[in-house]
Amino acid sequence: MPEHAQDPKTFYVTTPIYYVNDAPHIGHAYTTVAADVVTRWHRQRGERVWFLTGTDEHGEKVLRSAQEHDMTPQAWADSLVDGAWRPMLATLEVANDDFIRTTQERHTRRVQAFLQQLFDAGFIYEGDYEGPYCVSCEEFKLASELLEGPGGQALCPVHHRPVEMLAERNWFFRLSQFGPALLEHYADHPEAVAPTSARNEVLAFLRAGLEDLSISRSTFDWGIPVPWDPAQVVYVWFDALLNYATAVGLGDTDPAGAAMFAATWPADIHLVGKDILRFHAVIWPAMLMAAGLALPRQVFAHGWLLVGGEKMSKTRLTGIAPADIVDTFGADAFRWYFLRAIQFGADGSFSWEDLHARYTAELANGLGNLTSRVTAMLVRYCDGSVPVAEPGPAEVAVHEAMATALADADAAVEELRLADALAALYALVVATNGYLTEQQPWHVWRDVDTDPTARARVGTVLATAADALRALAVLLAAVMPSTAAAMWDSLGAHEALGPLADQRLADAARPGQLPAGTTVTKGEGLFPRIEESA
Ligand code: MSP
Repeated sequence: MPEHAQDPKTFYVTTPIYYVNDAPHIGHAYTTVAADVVTRWHRQRGERVWFLTGTDEHGEKVLRSAQEHDMTPQAWADSLVDGAWRPMLATLEVANDDFIRTTQERHTRRVQAFLQQLFDAGFIYEGDYEGPYCVSCEEFKLASELLEGPGGQALCPVHHRPVEMLAERNWFFRLSQFGPALLEHYADHPEAVAPTSARNEVLAFLRAGLEDLSISRSTFDWGIPVPWDPAQVVYVWFDALLNYATAVGLGDTDPAGAAMFAATWPADIHLVGKDILRFHAVIWPAMLMAAGLALPRQVFAHGWLLVGGEKMSKTRLTGIAPADIVDTFGADAFRWYFLRAIQFGADGSFSWEDLHARYTAELANGLGNLTSRVTAMLVRYCDGSVPVAEPGPAEVAVHEAMATALADADAAVEELRLADALAALYALVVATNGYLTEQQPWHVWRDVDTDPTARARVGTVLATAADALRALAVLLAAVMPSTAAAMWDSLGAHEALGPLADQRLADAARPGQLPAGTTVTKGEGLFPRIEESA
């Protein structure tokens, strides 16, 4: 495994910032959970990490939803952030380091300074915009991408809602001049947009040629005023993209801010849904280039959660709230299911049946049952004290399964093949269960009074299984933090080895770490059975 701890740069992961036009659904939770798992994995490697998420609060979409609720946009945003978006993080056990809101002064001030810098450098000019706009996407559309609706109405291809025709005098960013430099950048850094399908989409888009981008709006005022023309507000995407840099001190000259920015920027991974790939892989790097800033190491576009074959969305009334799932199955099962069942990067359909089936097979009958069997036998046969192991070939095979799980999962996380990473971890559950089934310690125990080797053999098997659970707790901590913590407690590992958070992945597969004599208790079942009708 590479020695990551030596890297002086903080490993910086972001989610998109979410529109506060409505409460979160599981599509939003999906991006956030994926980012949390990646960040926690890197943290468990011993790296310095920074994980940013937050909310996108300006623009027409948020303004209109506030108006529909007879509230000022700020009060509306406050109520959704406090009542829905921040609580979602707690519901899902997300351990973000910072939460940025685009209405915060730290953001608006830095956006204005950035804009002024680009204006002074000649990258911004005044012009007329005329064309279609989708308020749900907050995006200027090309006529060629629109769908035809009833009565010849032009519809947004994502939301299937009518686009609006705009004709405004605006400020424009000279996006068109960055096409060749972006193509060169992506040729030099093939990993900068992933997966391959996303990279190909971006390259095709760039090769077709870019148009300059309108970056201000004059017909409403819910936004950051353009510093030299306060009658206009900054286009919401131009404002929003900058959050990734403003949150870590963009442009700060005071020592603390400047040091933070130097240690954190550029972002290592911007996780985004595929619908917002172009903003992140075309507009955002062009903005950074114009300002002479380093470009993100990678933009990774994941797929959509589908309901009835369509992107799940509140607008289309197919949204499911994360708490609907978490209240029944728990946060860890939520985290496990979505990352395990869907290849990260591809679309995936959600169904309650599939969730229930995986929960039962992999968590209740798989990991949960394994943990309760091993700890129960340790309590019954060994007075709850980890016995001494005398490893033979069967034990060495378990040790190898531990090493393989770690190596495969680590390589997969590195490439954001998250479903593969979880599959690698699950293989260790299967291997440990298989080991127990073969060794049958409960069978061997029957001869304990007549066979002088029986007690030692049972001890070896249970000590080996307990140590595999110890390794699993470390490996699963990023994906299922509460489950891993409960396993750690029940194994008595905290006393013997210290806090779970201090365990390093690089050491996790080293066998025999849970010392003989450690006190094991049989904890509560990790995954209670759930009736299918639930
Ligand atoms: N505010 C912008 C992002 C600005 S980032 C500088 C935005 N917000 S959003 O709330 O509409 O969407 C945020 C993220 O949620 C996007 O990555 C989007 O892809 C994701 N999802 C929204 N619905 C989704 C699904 N049905 N499935 C998976 N992810 C989806 O866009």
